[in-house]
Amino acid sequence: MPDHEPAVTIRYDVAQSARIWNYWMGGKDNYPADRAAGEAVLEQYPEMAELAKACRQFIIRTVRYLAGEAGVRQFLDIGTGLPTMQNTHEVAQGLAPDSRVVYVDNDPVVLAHARALLTNTTPEGVTTYVDADYNDTSLLIADARNVLNFNEPIAVMFMGVLGHTEDFERALGIARRVMDAVPSGSYLAQYEGTDTSRAYVEACATEKDLGVAYYPRSPEQVAAYFEGLKLVEPGVVEINAWRPAVVGDGPPRAVPAYGGVARKP
Ligand SMILES: C[S@@+](CC[C@H](N)C(=O)[O-])C[C@H]1O[C@@H](n2cnc3c(N)ncnc32)[C@H](O)[C@@H]1O
Repeated sequence: MPDHEPAVTIRYDVAQSARIWNYWMGGKDNYPADRAAGEAVLEQYPEMAELAKACRQFIIRTVRYLAGEAGVRQFLDIGTGLPTMQNTHEVAQGLAPDSRVVYVDNDPVVLAHARALLTNTTPEGVTTYVDADYNDTSLLIADARNVLNFNEPIAVMFMGVLGHTEDFERALGIARRVMDAVPSGSYLAQYEGTDTSRAYVEACATEKDLGVAYYPRSPEQVAAYFEGLKLVEPGVVEINAWRPAVVGDGPPRAVPAYGGVARKP
């Protein structure tokens, strides 16, 4: 057994999901390969950047709901991505300073940035980062147990993440195993890109050719993640329609992503 952690090789010459996503959100933590892939997708589907920002706003609104109205104090944010504006711990600890937040990702670049940036915003709270692959749910849960109390409600967040797994049933099994490990009163918060826009589906195919595979689901498949849980209003809907912060005159702008929040009975 080595007496030190093996050095992780970070590939900067190959596009990575978290860094492309960061590029679309207007971040600076990306490299030429990520920008090239991001641009190729934008050329085909210019709305992708708007979608990435809408996804972040959905995360902010769901965490506000969970830390506020739902009174949750523990968050397990799986597939965190690179730190960006209003990260989960900032939103949660902004409302409930004693919130405990565990971030999980398997991208070494996310790990490096997370260690530097995803730190507590309050003296009472806890913010940590676990370097784990969501396919190994046992290890992920074991690591999260070091920080979270699995006898108290936990908000499990899979935000735009499980679409990286091609086999839908397998992805469903991952979410179910994590939800099985958390107690009654816990929540699942999730969104996924959906096949509701042909242009978006084609853009995902381009992204796959460039090395990052993401498989849009149908709205029914997104809803299946919440089976057996009690959905909070308005259910599984297009993310911009999920408790919009500002209610305008017309319906919210449609984006190809569905999501929701549900409580474990
Ligand atoms: C599209 S980004 C979404 C980031 C963030 N949740 C958001 O919605 O803004 C997907 C994230 O999932 C992570 N990811 C992909 N496959 C993973 C796996 N097998 N285990 C853990 N994280 C994974 C990627 O590294 C990336 O950070």
